[in-house]
Amino acid sequence: MKRMIWLMVASIMIFGTGIAIAELNSGPEELTIDGGDRGNVPFPHRKHQTNLKDCNICHAVFPQKTGAIAEMKAQGKLKQKDVMNKQCTKCHRNEKKAGNPSGPTTCAKCHMKKG
Ligand code: HEC
Ligand code: HEC
Ligand code: HEC
Repeated sequence: MKRMIWLMVASIMIFGTGIAIAELNSGPEELTIDGGDRGNVPFPHRKHQTNLKDCNICHAVFPQKTGAIAEMKAQGKLKQKDVMNKQCTKCHRNEKKAGNPSGPTTCAKCHMKKG
């Protein structure tokens, strides 16, 4: 019986630590993507993580790092508008067509005007 209890305590501890680590690595809830001349793009990161589950839908293309997209564009590893066209607006359009909750598809709804 004592053994059983220790086993339970141990597994709760291990499980709990796993959750804490997952939270540490999930990045910010809200972030802003560098939108170049067109204006930056506010991005509800956590909402996408919750809705899409699979991090690699996005992070197979760019690493889990703030500024990664702009960096890769500067290095010529990503074309301008590639993430926008092949990920953001493409998915939003498809979801909308399927009648699911989706995100913006018009310029001004994503890009903040420059002051
Ligand atoms: C819909 C796309 C998308 C999904 C899905 C997504 N992310 Fe991100 N993530 C981004 C973008 C965009 C950035 C910022 C990149 C940039 O600034 O160039 C980012 C940045 C990050 C960062 C860096 C934060 C920082 O402060 O430097 C971490 C960590 C991260 N993501 C973790 C995750 C994890 C873990 C998951 C899955 C649970 C996930 N992301 C799912 C788009 C996504
Ligand atoms: C769902 C959000 C979203 C919508 C809608 C959107 N954009 Fe973007 N756009 C982005 C993101 C994110 C980036 C940065 C990543 C990239 O270059 O793919 C970007 C990048 C760009 C760039 C490249 C800027 C640079 O200096 O590299 C241009 C130009 C641009 N958008 C124009 C437009 C125009 C024009 C429209 C409307 C037809 C539009 N965007 C609609 C999110 C969006
Ligand atoms: C694979 C699908 C997918 C990709 C890729 C994706 N989104 Fe979305 N986006 C969604 C869905 C689904 C929602 C609706 C979420 C909800 O309402 O819970 C959404 C909602 C949004 C919203 C509105 C959130 C709100 O509070 O109404 C914004 C802004 C947005 N996305 C920006 C972006 C940008 C910028 C990118 C590219 C970096 C992107 N999304 C990539 C699926 C996607």
